[in-house]
Amino acid sequence: MVKKPKHLRPQPRKSSLTTHAFTFLILALFSILILLGLGIFSLPSTSMISSRPDDFTTVERTSEDRESYGDEEGNGERWLEVISWEPRAFLYHNFLTNEECEHLISLAKPNMAKSKVADVKTGRSKDRRVRTSSGAFLKTGHDEIVREIENKISDFTFIPVENGESLQVLHYEVGQKYEPHHDYFTDELNVKRGGQRVATVLMYLSDVDEGGETVFPLAKGNISDVPWWNELSQCGKEGLSVLPKKRDALLFWSMRPDGSLDPSSLHGGCPVIKGNKWSSTKWLHVHEYRN
Ligand SMILES: *[C@@H]1O[C@H](CO)[C@@H](O)[C@H](O)[C@H]1NC(C)=O
Repeated sequence: MVKKPKHLRPQPRKSSLTTHAFTFLILALFSILILLGLGIFSLPSTSMISSRPDDFTTVERTSEDRESYGDEEGNGERWLEVISWEPRAFLYHNFLTNEECEHLISLAKPNMAKSKVADVKTGRSKDRRVRTSSGAFLKTGHDEIVREIENKISDFTFIPVENGESLQVLHYEVGQKYEPHHDYFTDELNVKRGGQRVATVLMYLSDVDEGGETVFPLAKGNISDVPWWNELSQCGKEGLSVLPKKRDALLFWSMRPDGSLDPSSLHGGCPVIKGNKWSSTKWLHVHEYRN
């Protein structure tokens, strides 16, 4: 077998190849620009992500869309809506199933007591006028369904189950409310157990005919820009508000990503005007919380 001498191999003409590649690139770029200009195809859209920090209607859908998805049990489609970036608040539509909502209510019902708020001096609970609802705590991991809900909260907040206080179920009747407050602590005693509260998940277990909104009075941005503005009560119009809707869960952060407390997380429960309101709260701490 004769080996071909090396010098006989056709040598690619380097300069010409480079020129061809370059011409091709320019042409390709040019075609892409023309196609983009004509709108025949578009770059990956970021329309599902709010580009303007305080635009809470970006992920908005029409009221028709809101009802048009879901399973046979009427549990609705799951989707996330950015409510605000200051405070950081997000609404998980159809977070719970109807069955989960009813289960939490039936567990709490026999144990409802007048709601208390944490006392800054003793760290214990005390009765106060600011909170006129009644409520009950459900033991962490009480049963399979409660465990599933707690796991789901952990999955969606990326905070371990161990960092959560036990679920609290609340009932508000006509006229009952919760004045605006922060969920984080300003005293040292309460912080000893599990550290500061970092976030709250507020789940709506019932629809409310009128009132009962969750309102953030210090939210930045145009509060009247929400699509449900005309459905809000007077109290609801005093800040950025979320309408209580069965199965939905509102996640908001008491702390900023840098670990500082966020005063704009101030929030309240507007008085129920018509019907009544059932909700459930999960407070999440920065460390493991021993209930
Ligand atoms: C706030 O939003 C409403 C409804 O979209 C609009 O009519 C109003 O002009 C906005 N106000 C400001 C100050 O941008």
